[in-house]
Amino acid sequence: MSDLLPKRVRESTVETTALVLPQDTNPHGTMFGGHLMALIDTTAAVAASRHARALVVTAAMDELHFLAPVMLGDILMLRGSVNMVGTTSMEVGVRVEREDRLTGRRDHAASAYLTFVALDASRRPQPVPPLIAESDDERRRMENAGVRRADRLRRREAYRRTVTNES
Ligand SMILES: CC(C)(COP(=O)(O)OP(=O)(O)OC[C@H]1O[C@@H](n2cnc3c(N)ncnc32)[C@H](O)[C@@H]1OP(=O)(O)O)[C@@H](O)C(=O)NCCC(=O)NCCS
Repeated sequence: MSDLLPKRVRESTVETTALVLPQDTNPHGTMFGGHLMALIDTTAAVAASRHARALVVTAAMDELHFLAPVMLGDILMLRGSVNMVGTTSMEVGVRVEREDRLTGRRDHAASAYLTFVALDASRRPQPVPPLIAESDDERRRMENAGVRRADRLRRREAYRRTVTNES
């Protein structure tokens, strides 16, 4: 049973570092997009789990753009934090930077927004603690996340209608 006391954003923030190894890359020496997606999903899942202290599942990942190539040997830094919570769902934002390990140059490689839902022992959605945004950045992210949530739920309904009609 998780408690529902409000939690600060920083209590669940996650920072992950990874080195891009040969098995993470394609024949051109850049990173597999799918592997980066898995790292993003894992980073976000840890932030959501820390906030909810419950079993969480990924309900959705918003569109993902790869902004800069990630190369073999690069250092990857992923930072994930909960942007807003609904009743049982949480939006987590993940920012990915790549660092050239020889020069130290850093580039913004990708950003993604994921929605997680907390589940109880019967795998039904369960409420999550309220979120306390303390800084101006956190308040801005929370406000923007509210706009994305409304858009996302509209798209989910449209998607459901489309796949139901096509099946
Ligand atoms: C995600 C899941 C638990 C939602 O179950 P559901 O019965 O549709 O639940 P509800 O409609 O009551 O929605 C619960 C919450 O999730 C949110 N939600 C559900 N689907 C969503 C989606 N696709 N995108 C964004 N939010 C979503 C709802 O808005 C609601 O949020 P709120 O409580 O904060 O208002 C269910 O669809 C599921 O188990 N999906 C599979 C998840 C999974 O296995 N992920 C790993 C992929 S391999």
